[in-house]
Amino acid sequence: MSPNIVNIVYLIAAVLFIMGLKGLTHPRTAVRGNLMGSMGMLLAIVVTLLNKGLSFELIIAGFIVGGLAGVILAVKIEMTAMPQLVALFNGFGGGASILVAGAELLRLNSGGDPAGLQSLIAIVLSGIIGAVTFWGSLIAFGKLQGVVVPDQPVRYPGEQIVKVLLLGGSLVMGVMIIMDPSRIDLYWGVVAIASVLGILLVIAIGGADMPVVVALLNSYSGLAAAATGFVLSPPNTVLIVAGSLVGASGLILTNIMCKAMNRSLANVLFGGFGEVQESASADDVYGGKVKATSPEELAMLFDTASRVVIVPGYGMAVAQAQHAVRDLYNLLESRDVTVEFAVHPVAGRMPGHMNVLLAEADIPYDRLIEMDDINPTMKQVDIAIVLGANDVVNPVARTDPKSPIAGMPIIDVDKAQTVIVIKRSLSPGFAGIPNPLFAADNSLMLFGDGKKMIQETVTSLKED
Ligand code: TAP
Repeated sequence: MSPNIVNIVYLIAAVLFIMGLKGLTHPRTAVRGNLMGSMGMLLAIVVTLLNKGLSFELIIAGFIVGGLAGVILAVKIEMTAMPQLVALFNGFGGGASILVAGAELLRLNSGGDPAGLQSLIAIVLSGIIGAVTFWGSLIAFGKLQGVVVPDQPVRYPGEQIVKVLLLGGSLVMGVMIIMDPSRIDLYWGVVAIASVLGILLVIAIGGADMPVVVALLNSYSGLAAAATGFVLSPPNTVLIVAGSLVGASGLILTNIMCKAMNRSLANVLFGGFGEVQESASADDVYGGKVKATSPEELAMLFDTASRVVIVPGYGMAVAQAQHAVRDLYNLLESRDVTVEFAVHPVAGRMPGHMNVLLAEADIPYDRLIEMDDINPTMKQVDIAIVLGANDVVNPVARTDPKSPIAGMPIIDVDKAQTVIVIKRSLSPGFAGIPNPLFAADNSLMLFGDGKKMIQETVTSLKED
């Protein structure tokens, strides 16, 4: 195939990737964006394989096997298990980079083109970043899925020194490969050391914080792919472009998540992630001050309300309450009550978690209001319903500088006229701290499973 045609198709694929990413920035255009990115990838793969002289039969067979695996995974996976699926995908990307770089080193040694400095450096980088990504992602998967590795951070004396030594060791061996490319054994040595580094880096971080780590590993998998693009001869431009886009967008996402949690990346990677922090005891915060309510009482409260704001959190995802919420939304709107949804950037356990669930339940996008836009109007809200959210509405973030969530921007539900908190108990959320909102004068607790409580409220409203 003429190199010009290949490059033009690569260019089209790159444009589709960029338009796809743009589409993914808004729920309304996300499906289209996803399709565009997939189309770009399909074009890039088919042209690359045809260019390398593979037969149509093989390409179609690969398409069917890969497509089938993708469809089964996409259909079977629970929405709450999405972070571990992404972790696995990142790991596959890293693993592929290790293998491609290793294969290229073997080819260079078996009488291929003379090894250039650029491709040797790229081979070493692919091996190191690919191995860190592969093993780090597998550990992240294990923590999120609750299998094999402990959920708690694994800490030991001198851990940072061990990691620096491992990184240094893999770089030194990498330089030795560049000086003597016939040392294929050293390449696998580099991969082995970087694999241990990947395991140690992620095992030191608590399971609940894995989403940030997964976003970072996603960025690493992009860097590994971009490096692999330079490994190939001639360099594969579409791999370099796609890898760079993944690397950059993963880093931007990591940054957004850190900011929304008011953490620095260094604190995420090396700080007391998942460790118990000092905070007021639950008895001090709640003792005798918590008032419970029932679905019937909540239904009665709606009689006098004209503006209701629902704040969804991780518990809505666990309870799969989004469809029940849509029924409540429809019912209230039919009674001329304005219902809005206040979405915190880190509500749930992955970016856009709440947006995806609410979109799945056909809640109109224009009813999803971002935190910065809804907060100034909170005083005019008659009823704020906190559905399975905890940390993202915890006023301690504003008042206690020692708290693990100090400085994290929150949704100011405490300023609403009445707050209804729907959750099963007074258990803490992800940050592991009590929430004084539950004991506030204007708060009522509706204890129970999120879906069941909303369904019972809807039933009571209909009986009104
Ligand atoms: P959390 O603070 O984790 O609180 C979730 C609450 O849901 C829990 O207190 C739990 O209380 C309740 N719950 C669980 N199952 C339920 C069910 N079936 N029905 C009703 N309630 C249920 O959630 P959040 O407010 O969404 O905050 C998210 C937290 O995760 C933040 O601290 C954030 O920093 C962190 N985080 C987020 C991300 C992203 S990207 N979203 C990534 C990493 C970390 P009960 O057990 O009493 O029911």
